[in-house]
This record gives sequence, structure tokens and C-alpha cells, in this order.
Amino acid sequence: MDVLPEILSRHSVRSFAPKPIEKDQVERILEAGRLAPSAKNRQEWRFVVVQKKETRERIQEAAFGQEHVGQAAAIIAVCTTNIDYRMPNGQLSYPVDLAFAACQMTLQAVHEGLGTCCVSTFDEQEVREILTAPFSMRVVLLLLVGHPRDPVEAEPGPRKPLKQVSSKEHW
Ligand SMILES: Cc1cc2nc3c(=O)[nH]c(=O)nc-3n(C[C@H](O)[C@H](O)[C@H](O)COP(=O)(O)O)c2cc1C
Repeated sequence: MDVLPEILSRHSVRSFAPKPIEKDQVERILEAGRLAPSAKNRQEWRFVVVQKKETRERIQEAAFGQEHVGQAAAIIAVCTTNIDYRMPNGQLSYPVDLAFAACQMTLQAVHEGLGTCCVSTFDEQEVREILTAPFSMRVVLLLLVGHPRDPVEAEPGPRKPLKQVSSKEHW
């Protein structure tokens, strides 16, 4: 089966080397997020890049001390600028839109030879204060980006078999 190498080699990285990432790499990762699809093409997102050590350490504290949060060379806070727009099917659009953007940024980071971890275990209010995000905005995910400390395995992590998660014509 032909699947993109970035999809095959992506793993969550939870240990980063103390090595900075290049400005151009950050720009390309953000560009991948900017180009993501969104409901009605509303693009109600804001990607806040945190690279200063002191701020990363404060975010680590807000993420209940998880070490990999402070270790990552960049923390991209994936935020929404609208919290109530619903798609025609009734679902809120922002979690879906932001997931697309985070996924594209993740794959671009892997393409750059970097490691990532998507983090949702954090106190949103604290992170919002650190980032001085407006009251009505939400910080939905933290995307950690950096150089993996250990070599990343070439095989994807364990997944349910395709037969269990897909079917044809009917549920
Ligand atoms: C929406 C979302 C939230 C996640 N939150 C966390 C988190 O808070 N902390 C963490 O270490 N990993 C987090 N992860 C990473 C998952 O645990 C990981 O993707 C999953 O175990 C599959 O492993 P893999 O990414 O190595 O393939 C999150 C992933 C997603 C997509």
C-alpha cells in the first residue's frame, strides 16, 4: 500500500534534544497550517509560536509539569478565533478545523526531520493567561515541535485493523 512516508514515520515524540529549530522550518510548518481546509473556508485560527525558554517553562507548568512540553524547541498553541460557528450538520467547526491545521503542521514538521507531540493535557486558563489570549478565544491544542532525542521508529504505532474501523456501503 502506498502511504506518504511522513504519515508512516510520524510518532508522538516525548523527549526532545536541547537543539533549536530553524526560523524557516517554523515558517514552513505555520504555512502548512495556514493552508489547511476549514468549514466555509473561515480560517478561524491563530497559531501562537512560543520559543522563549522562560515561556516554554511556564507552559510546562500549566501542562502539569510534563517535561516534554518545556523541552520542545517550539510550542505552537493552536487556538480558535471563533467558538460558536456550527457547520450545517450541527457540529462545532473549530475542533475540526484546528485538527486539520494541526495535522498538516505535524506532517510538515516530520517532513522537516523534526518530531512532534500533540498535547491536550493542560490548564487552558493558565495557558491563555501566559499567551495573553483574549477572553473569548480558546487554546485547543499545544503542538510540540523539536528534534527528537532518540531515533524515531520507522513503523507506525499500534492501530486497529482497517476491517475494524471501516466498512463499505453500510455501517
Ligand atoms: C487530540 C489529541 C490530544 C493528545 N493529547 C496528548 C497529551 O496531552 N499528552 C501526550 O503526551 N500526548 C497526547 N496526544 C498524543 C497521543 O497520545 C498519540 O497520538 C497516540 O497515543 C498515538 O500515538 P502516536 O502519535 O505515536 O502514533 C494527543 C493526541 C491527539 C490527537
